[in-house]
Amino acid sequence: MDNSLIIALDFANRKEVEQFLQSFKSQELFVKVGMELFYQEGPDIVHYLKENGHRIFLDLKLHDIPNTVKSAMKGLAKLECDLVNVHAAGGKEMMRAALEGLEEGTGAGRKRPACIAVTQLTSTSEEQMNKEQLIPGPLKQSVLHYAAITKEAGLDGVVCSAWEAAEIRENLGEKFHTVTPGIRMPEDNTGDQKRIATPEFARSAGVTSIVVGRSITRSIDPVKSYDKWIEAWRGVQL
Ligand code: C5P
Repeated sequence: MDNSLIIALDFANRKEVEQFLQSFKSQELFVKVGMELFYQEGPDIVHYLKENGHRIFLDLKLHDIPNTVKSAMKGLAKLECDLVNVHAAGGKEMMRAALEGLEEGTGAGRKRPACIAVTQLTSTSEEQMNKEQLIPGPLKQSVLHYAAITKEAGLDGVVCSAWEAAEIRENLGEKFHTVTPGIRMPEDNTGDQKRIATPEFARSAGVTSIVVGRSITRSIDPVKSYDKWIEAWRGVQL
């Protein structure tokens, strides 16, 4: 997962995904399937992407009672994705149950998918968190706290913004993954994201992987745009 650029396939159906991926020819990518696509296409979309050699982050952000999350994860493990996630707000017991489900559902000799937890969504502002979730104090404090309980529950990392990644790394070690959406080039539209950062900033903060959606998927030339993003993220000239 280290140093990956994960493309968020936020498309309405498989046809749109196929059209998007066509221009990449046989290039193997790390892609994210979120609820928009999964709820339309179901597990078949994961099979299709795996058959084409792509690595998959199945971003379904599970958040329910521990027993339900455990059973759901047991089923999801059979899809053999690389990465899955839950909401840290579900609590430590729920996160431990998620891991148990994944372990039970992973076939003998197979590697269980990595599991990370969403801390605060990158579309959430501090004001929203204070007023709507009734969590007082700075947003960063909430993210750091969620990251700490995620590690205590034994998960592999968190989804956070690049602004919190350096402190999470400092507190919880560099093996604990930080996967960060809300990444934009300076000239890009922010869309609904609030805690945004550039790829260069994410790199300097020690982020493990970045998730990029609309900046690549809605671009006129997605391949060119992807290459530009890889250069900016990895700090190399392609
Ligand atoms: O288009 P954009 O680059 O904003 O896409 C970001 C992706 O990351 C979306 O698929 C969104 O659901 C996801 N995500 C997020 N914030 C989180 C977790 C996931 O934006 N905390």
